[in-house]
Amino acid sequence: MTRPTPSEADVSLIRRLCVRLAKRPLTVLPVTQRLLTLVVVLSGAALPISHAHTPPVVLPGPWGEMREESPARPLADAGDAAIRLRQQHMRAVSSQYRSVEALAMAETPLAPMSLAAARTLHELAERNTALFAPAVPRRTRFGAKAAIWQEPTEFAEHVAGFTLATSRLLQAIENSEAESVGAGLAAVRHQCLACHFHYAYWENRPGVEGRRVAARP
Ligand code: HEC
Repeated sequence: MTRPTPSEADVSLIRRLCVRLAKRPLTVLPVTQRLLTLVVVLSGAALPISHAHTPPVVLPGPWGEMREESPARPLADAGDAAIRLRQQHMRAVSSQYRSVEALAMAETPLAPMSLAAARTLHELAERNTALFAPAVPRRTRFGAKAAIWQEPTEFAEHVAGFTLATSRLLQAIENSEAESVGAGLAAVRHQCLACHFHYAYWENRPGVEGRRVAARP
């Protein structure tokens, strides 16, 4: 399987971001955040950093002063930035996949919105190599297993398999092959579950979203 190569732009963006954040003094974090981070580190990440409280901010604009109750939590360091980026990326992957799925269930698999979501899903898939380049395993009870960076060839196979599946789904919609969309969705979902089975960890729930039913022949 051909490995997708990350775009130069993605790679340099992630590199620049990480370098900049690594240089950023820790003093930019509010005192409470720093203390909480320390407690979290000392207690062996018993409390995920994401649960640390970030005070609300007020955003003035054409609708008056709007209160943001859940502003983005400050980043502790470059590794934290890498984790946040790929988690947000995965949420986008999930929502695009679920959009195509919902449109197929509503029997409108070829709607323009379905095409847009499938295209975005494929573009996001192509970004996986760059997003998983920083070797930062999970720091909380959920996240990336260290195995991703211990067995890069196998992980690259998952990334390639997922990219291929999303390109086939996109092709089916582009070519107006409504009858192939269901199979295309199933093939994409298989790739999500397989990658999570091997490389995402959630305490007390191996495989995150899926389990393997039978051993590979
Ligand atoms: C090549 C491997 C791979 C593929 C393919 C993949 N994922 Fe993931 N996914 C991961 C890993 C690893 C994590 C944990 C990332 C972390 O926490 O740093 C994750 C995390 C997630 C999360 C949690 C994000 C969060 O907020 O913490 C969701 C949701 C998710 N994936 C959905 C999907 C869906 C839906 C698909 C398929 C359409 C998919 N993923 C395909 C590897 C993959």
